[in-house]
Amino acid sequence: MSNVFEINHVIVKHYLSILRDVNTDISCFRQALDKLGLFLAMDLTGGLVTETVPIDTPLMPTEGAVISEQVAVVPILRAGLALVQPFRELLPEVHIFHLGMYRDEQTATPVPYYNKLQESPSVDSAIVVDPMLATGGSAIAAISALRKRGIEKISFGCVIAAPEGIVNLQEAFPDVPVTACSIDDGLNDINYILPGLGDAGDRYFGTV
Ligand code: PRP
Ligand code: URA
Repeated sequence: MSNVFEINHVIVKHYLSILRDVNTDISCFRQALDKLGLFLAMDLTGGLVTETVPIDTPLMPTEGAVISEQVAVVPILRAGLALVQPFRELLPEVHIFHLGMYRDEQTATPVPYYNKLQESPSVDSAIVVDPMLATGGSAIAAISALRKRGIEKISFGCVIAAPEGIVNLQEAFPDVPVTACSIDDGLNDINYILPGLGDAGDRYFGTV
């Protein structure tokens, strides 16, 4: 899986351990997810296109590299909202395209309920974010919606990915790179990730 990346960093392992723990309270859960979002935002913005610009330092002229690509971060609601703020910190002008969908509890298929994508998006690329990639259904639906609107350069970032979701996503969109803080063991019989962290949205928003 050459297009799949797992972030290997001790801080990531530390905050993942807090997230996974059933005894972590909502405040610490939010803090941990916010921290991991920063690692994802750093990783997923690493390939943005830059242009060379002349700069005068106080000492001499030199050259710098500034981002020349218009990018949108696309959170899959609800839980994806938790991963938007780090992108805003790194890229204050980032576009934010909201896509709402929830998994049907019986079939685990995504049910769309909100779409704030522009019909003809004015961005060069999109970064789709969601804390969890389980079966991959939600990510595939989100990326399909972006491709239908003409966005070709797309990447996907999550905190925890199941191997099954990665395979499904790669089959549907082999050119979309996937970055995860952890690739876990697999799915249980109701399509929750093992060991996972439970329901990311419920734990982050306090609706358990
Ligand atoms: C969760 C998660 C993903 C989806 C992953 O959302 O945040 O969007 O499930 O599962 P999949 O890969 O099998 O599609 P959920 O449906 O719980 O909605 P929520 O974000 O509102 O909690
Ligand atoms: N969504 C979650 O929030 N957790 C899972 O384990 C699977 C889907």
